[in-house]
This record gives sequence, C-alpha cells and structure tokens, in this order.
Amino acid sequence: MGDIRFAPQPQALDLPALRAQFPVLQQSVHGAPLAYLDNGATTQMPLAVLDAMRQFETHDRANIHRGVHTLSQRATDDFEAARATLKRFIGAGPEHELVFTSGTTEALNTIAQGLWLGGPKKAWLRADDEIIVSGLEHHANLIPWQHAATATGAKLLVLRPDAQGRLHTADLARLLGPRTRVFAITAGANATGERPPYAEMLRMAAQAGALTVLDAAQAVSHAVPVLAQLDCDFMAFSGHKMYGPMGTGVLAGRHAALERLHPLRLGGDMVEWVKYDSACYAALPARLEGGTPNVGGAVGLAAAARFIDQVGRAAIDAHVHALRAQAVAGLSAIEGVTVLAPHATDAALLSFVARDVHPHDIGTLLDEQGIAVRTGHHCAQPLIDHLGLGPTTRASFALYNTPDEVERLIAGVARALEVLR
Ligand SMILES: Cc1ncc(COP(=O)(O)O)c(C=O)c1O
Repeated sequence: MGDIRFAPQPQALDLPALRAQFPVLQQSVHGAPLAYLDNGATTQMPLAVLDAMRQFETHDRANIHRGVHTLSQRATDDFEAARATLKRFIGAGPEHELVFTSGTTEALNTIAQGLWLGGPKKAWLRADDEIIVSGLEHHANLIPWQHAATATGAKLLVLRPDAQGRLHTADLARLLGPRTRVFAITAGANATGERPPYAEMLRMAAQAGALTVLDAAQAVSHAVPVLAQLDCDFMAFSGHKMYGPMGTGVLAGRHAALERLHPLRLGGDMVEWVKYDSACYAALPARLEGGTPNVGGAVGLAAAARFIDQVGRAAIDAHVHALRAQAVAGLSAIEGVTVLAPHATDAALLSFVARDVHPHDIGTLLDEQGIAVRTGHHCAQPLIDHLGLGPTTRASFALYNTPDEVERLIAGVARALEVLR
C-alpha cells in the first residue's frame, strides 16, 4: 500500500478566545448581541493592536527623523520596525519598498497622479497612451485613473466583466497593446466578492510593458497577496480592513516603479536639501512620505499584521470562506433572493438583492436585530450598474464571526422580507 498523504488542514479558530480580544464586539445593539458583518468596510481592532498603539502613545510618542533626543529616536525606530514587519507580511523582496499612507485611496492617488505630475518630460503617462482598469473596481481604483487620463490625454479602457461579474484573460489579451502604460486591478471586488485571476492578469500586462497596480484592500485580511510572487509594480491596502487603525495604509511596490512617482505631499521630511527657489527630493521611502506621518497608526498596523500571522493565515481564510458558503446557501434558499457572484467561493463577503425590496430597508431591519451589514453601491457604482440588479445588501466576514451570526443573518433577512413584502 502506498503512502497516504493528507493536505494539512488549517486549525479551526478558537472563536470565544478570539472574540474576547475584541472589546467592541462585547456589546448589544437594540437589545441584541452585536453581529458585526460589515468587515469589508472596516474590521475591528484586537487588544494586541490597541495595546501596541497605547504603548507608543504613552511611552515613545515624538516626531520622527528630525530629533536627536531619545523619544524621537525611539519613535523613528518604532516607525521603521513597523515598516519592516509590514514588508515581511506582504512578502516584499529586496527589490521592493513600502511607503506609509493614510489608506488605499491615498496610495492609489499617489500612483495615478505621481505618474504624470512633475511635467511631461518625466511623466510615464502621455497623450494617446492607454490605461486599462478592470470593471470590478472600487471608485478609489477608477476615479484617479479617469483623472490621470483627462490630465494627460491618455485613453482609459475598461476590462469589462461578463454578466456574472467575472473577468476573463482573453478579454484582457484583446485590450493590451503597444500603447498600454498602466493596468490596474483589484485582488477582490468589494461589491460582489469576485476574486479575479489577478496574478495571471498582472503577468500579462507586465509582459506587454505596462506598469501594474494591485488594489489589495479586500485581500489583506485574508488571502494576503505575496508581492515577490507577483508581476506587480504597485500594491495598495488599508490598515482598517485588516484589524488595524483607521487612517493608515500602505503603498508597496518595486523600488524602480516607486521612483517614477512624483510625490503628492511636498514639504517637510521628503527632501535632501532646500533653497528658496528649488529643492532636492529625498530617496525612497521618505520621498513619498512628506509631512509628519501617523506613527502610532503604523505601529498599530504592524501589530495587526503580527496578529493575523499569530492567528494563522490559512485558518482565517478557511474560516471566512466557510462563513460565506453558509451564508450563500442560506440566503439563496430564501424566495426572491439573488446572491451576486455565488461562484466566488474564496471570498470573505457576499452581496445579494431581494426582489421588490430596497436594501436600505433590509439593512435597517437587520440593524434593529443587532446585525450590522452594508447596503448600496459600495463605492463601485459602474459595476453595480453593469450587473443590472440595483444596489445590494452586503455581509462581510472576519476571523471573529461565528456560524451562529450567519444563521442570525439568514433568519434576519427572511424576517425582514416578510415584514417588507
Ligand atoms: C477594494 C477597495 N479598494 C479601495 C477601498 C478604499 O479604501 P480606503 O477607504 O481605506 O482608502 C476600499 C474600501 O472599501 C475597497 O474595498
């Protein structure tokens, strides 16, 4: 008899112990225990993150880089240690650099504007160049490219999804050409949960000579992309979607690509020398980090990355995928409910519509039962319009959510529909 090999199964999460680490979850809303299912918008923070930030604010708080005094040096060390932790977390290689931002939106604006600011001589984007953006994107990965196209005279092409919201490599192959300068795509669509074949698409675009941009906002709390394994010039994500603080985020990417960006934030801390009529910008990463950064936030974000790794990436992924599968099965069984992208089994969120009922009404009735979900276009209006089903209700899962909460969601939707119909 030959060897029988089993794929290692991720350890199941100890949910009561994990939930105890999230103070905000220990409350009732409208008399019912809070079921927080809006994690695609913002996740909650564990004690490990709160404690790390408190330690910084009560012990090391000072401005960085500019001080010779002890606190300033400690704060600088904390900031740079946070950068190193986050680089490891996303699998950055020696060719990569990581810049702190206020979130995904700032990171994507830094890329899209940085590629043409500073005058046409240095600009990567010029008139008649082509920018390809996937049709699954959050507005944060669309509007900056619309703006860049208008500012430079470049053309914006959209890689359109099919009727089910899937992207196809054959469609991308048709769009790529000698004028393609940028390709921007999400690692996970926040409105539907669709997980496009982004690794393959980034590779195709890089081969065509484009700079490649990955919006990893929905992927960093589970299914974290590994930068060194991707043909990715720029990757953006937010701290508040990965158990970290609000107002924090990252722009990571290839050093050579980041060098192409004209900085958006001009001022202190991003210069080598300054005269009254000119300045020499500093090397990366300081060059793109003008002004006083959110040092406490960076410390918290690094603590969030460590927390995810302590819990275990594979275990988190398996857990949220199972919750989604449970929710898809339960909600699809309700008469008149249509789940968008039910095939996206490796997503951590699901979106649905209910015949004749507006999602805002469903969301309001769920809130009355202590269940927090998000409703509307989810800042992805072109995709929602393309799918033609109207605004949706979205439930999104994190490592602390339970099967019991999903049952409450399913029962809550059924009850809401009874009332509203
Ligand atoms: C896929 C995606 N991209 C970008 C963003 C914008 O993130 P932030 O508001 O943190 O800048 C979001 C937020 O929902 C998102 O889901």
